[in-house]
Amino acid sequence: MNFHVFTLFPTMFHGPLSESILKRAQEKGLLNVSLHDIRDYAEDKHRIVDDYAYGGGPGMVMKPEPVFKAVETQLERIRESQAEPAGVPVILMSPKGRVLTQDVARELAGYTDIVLICGHYEGVDQRIIEHLATDEISIGDYVLTGGELAAMVVIDCVARLGAGVLGSEESTTRESHTDGLLQYPQYTRPPDYRGWTVPEVLLSGYHARIEEWRKEQSLLETRRRRPDLLESREESEN
Ligand code: ADE
Repeated sequence: MNFHVFTLFPTMFHGPLSESILKRAQEKGLLNVSLHDIRDYAEDKHRIVDDYAYGGGPGMVMKPEPVFKAVETQLERIRESQAEPAGVPVILMSPKGRVLTQDVARELAGYTDIVLICGHYEGVDQRIIEHLATDEISIGDYVLTGGELAAMVVIDCVARLGAGVLGSEESTTRESHTDGLLQYPQYTRPPDYRGWTVPEVLLSGYHARIEEWRKEQSLLETRRRRPDLLESREESEN
């Protein structure tokens, strides 16, 4: 899986990409993240990437030229490198986008190459949205200082769904949101910690009873914390 990230702050990505599962996935050749500094594509000697908004108002707007040049140059390279032509989503990270869910992550995990554009300042020129981006994704209904953290969230949750990225001991089949439910409570040793004991059934060794308990707990957790998930699960079943 190849992510092509366009940002004004490429070094922000170094930390998350150099630890844990994402680091291992890159070492194994299962994940590749190329970072492109939009400023390198600015055409003037001051490398200007933003300007005042037409019509006035606070804050600056990201200019179209460097973003188009950067992304189109890379799209051409991607197409040349693909043995078979495949769609390449060009995703603008934006609080106005469709909200990232596990279903969206699964959809994105089906692509070999994904372009992520990180917006900054007050926003990006509308022509980037209408004529370059094919999708806009928000990681939630709140506003970040820029798209970088949001892009890292997308890379993390999509990359871990890629074949071989997680070891068998870290499977995605039982975690929250996989079947529209939250995960059941988990316990490890000791069986008694400060008088707080592990539920008997988990120590019983009866797998069928354990499975039944987990299913029931998943439903209870979801009903208590996120009833909205149960409603959309019922809707999709009908
Ligand atoms: N940029 C600023 N806020 C954002 C959000 N919530 N999601 C994605 N990109 C953003």
